[in-house]
Amino acid sequence: MRTHYCGDINETLIDQTVTFCGWVHRRRDHGGVIFLDVRDREGLVQVVFDPDTVDAFNTADSVRSEFVVQITGRVRGRPEGTTNENMKTGMIEVLGKEINVLNKAATPPFPLDGYTDVGEDVRLKYRYMDMRRPEMQEKLRFRSKVTSAARRFLEDNGFLDIETPILTRATPEGARDYLVPSRTHEGSFFALPQSPQLFKQLLMVSGFDRYYQIAKCFRDEDLRADRQPEFTQIDIEASFINEDEIMGMVQGMIKDIFAKELSVDLGDFPRMPFSEAMNKYGSDKPDLRIPMELVDVEEFLQDIDFKVFAAPAKDPKCRVAALKVPGGAELSRKQIDEYTKFVGIYGAKGLAWIKVNEIEKGVEGLQSPIIKFIGDDNTMKIMEKLDAKNGDIVFFGADKTKVVNEALGALRCKLGEDLNMYTKEWAALWVVDFPMFEENDDGSMTALHHPFTAPSCSPEELEKAPLEALSRAYDMVLNGCELGGGSIRIHDEAMQETVFRVLGISEEEQREKFGFLLDALKFGAPPHGGLAFGLDRLIMLLTGATSIREVIAFPKTQSAACVMTQAPGEVSNTQLRDLHIKLREKAKPAE
Ligand code: AMO
Ligand code: AMP
Repeated sequence: MRTHYCGDINETLIDQTVTFCGWVHRRRDHGGVIFLDVRDREGLVQVVFDPDTVDAFNTADSVRSEFVVQITGRVRGRPEGTTNENMKTGMIEVLGKEINVLNKAATPPFPLDGYTDVGEDVRLKYRYMDMRRPEMQEKLRFRSKVTSAARRFLEDNGFLDIETPILTRATPEGARDYLVPSRTHEGSFFALPQSPQLFKQLLMVSGFDRYYQIAKCFRDEDLRADRQPEFTQIDIEASFINEDEIMGMVQGMIKDIFAKELSVDLGDFPRMPFSEAMNKYGSDKPDLRIPMELVDVEEFLQDIDFKVFAAPAKDPKCRVAALKVPGGAELSRKQIDEYTKFVGIYGAKGLAWIKVNEIEKGVEGLQSPIIKFIGDDNTMKIMEKLDAKNGDIVFFGADKTKVVNEALGALRCKLGEDLNMYTKEWAALWVVDFPMFEENDDGSMTALHHPFTAPSCSPEELEKAPLEALSRAYDMVLNGCELGGGSIRIHDEAMQETVFRVLGISEEEQREKFGFLLDALKFGAPPHGGLAFGLDRLIMLLTGATSIREVIAFPKTQSAACVMTQAPGEVSNTQLRDLHIKLREKAKPAE
């Protein structure tokens, strides 16, 4: 139907006749001459229709935005003064000879250029229109390019692409499962995989040695800008490999992609123990572009009367930390109140502060509502420990360690952004030496990664002091975003049983849920490990998008629904009956 894409018509084709197809992007009537900008995935081309070609002129006059057309015409240079250097086809135009309307279009729900005026809901409802926008086309093309680059890298390194099931049993990654009722097994359910974790480990037991998959994962969890219920991983596993080898290899892949696609050298990735990340940045995914750190100040606050600080300063489960913000003394009361509200989201009960105006005058040169509670001496000692300078503001958090870390950690990132404190464009690192487990409020334990992660100690040591045990897990963090994570796995049955036991999973439940894994570990499982990258997050970072929804063709909304297809939707009573399901009164389906 065509000889060229619109976007590929250029000076080399001058005087030639071309045929192209696409959508009418814009139609202009210039004193008896009709101009059409016609668009396809490669770009726009300008077409001119003269009144002397009567039929074509009349058709061109009748088309509207987003009509689908086929045009034949002769390429010519644009008259002087009308060229456009910024456009691939900006040096030429096509003198239209024939135009064929292949399809009409109703008035678009929003003008493609005016998408910012409509809410995301409207864009998602008419996603197929939204994706006609060159920006969306560019992002998804870029995604395709990066996926191929990752595939190429992995294939070149001997990884085999092997598919794993979508209808499966629960794979615990810490989220709720999406369940699929079985028609043939009454009362039983499949779970959609939260990741291919167990299958890729079994592929190692089978001897495939190196596996990868661009894998869909499903997690029913609270959504944020960087989380979708259905997302894609670049999932990787290898046998006879240690931490350094696998980390080195996949770091090479990410560096390669950044170098090729953005001409960016990410440099060496430093390694930071989890404990250091939490202490200095209040987060296991620190954004190292921001030059601020949390500093413990308990030692100055244990003996004061101000309970808000003294009580947590003495409690080993609590933390009192300070965040010094250079230039922050400029913040107004109103801004401080807003930041106080912000840390409230993370459970902080307040946000004490000290402004440093003239440090050479001692406490007289400071401004704060809490110096009277802390005392002059302690205040100056804290200023000294922080090396506070004129113009700084110091914020304080005092609470359970988790609350202080989350609140001040998030405040650090927010201030970094608001005050534009970034010292570089990219900051990648590995976070390592994670604890194996974290304690829940009821004293039970949860695996910090998943329960198949190998500890760095023996089963005996693990059982004796589980909360002290570190794991052989590693997370790759880029600009404060967890891009990927993985670990060396348990390949020994006794160790796997120990971990299940520590997690309070009874022997019966172990057999019921993970019997196949425990069996497989009996038959010569090789040492193995791997990791998974969040492909959506990788593309989001590479394209500078602010949400992974911008780099997914058909994403779900914040409430985990698809406004276009109206999924999830009701089903008929017959379907429910086939599935042996009866709904409770409140959620009765349509007849
Ligand atoms: P993990 O749960 O850390 O590990 O997931 C790996 C990476 O997947 C991305 N990711 C998500 N992206 C979008 N939306 C989500 N809801 C979402 N959840 C996770 C993140 C994350 O770093 N099986 C292990 C990997 C392994 O051990 O090999 C796993 O799934 O970028
Ligand atoms: P109050 O005595 O409650 O008025 O608190 C005095 C100052 O301490 C105010 O600036 C509060 O925002 C701050 N504050 C109160 N509780 C905390 C807390 N848990 N952590 C940090 N600052 C707090």
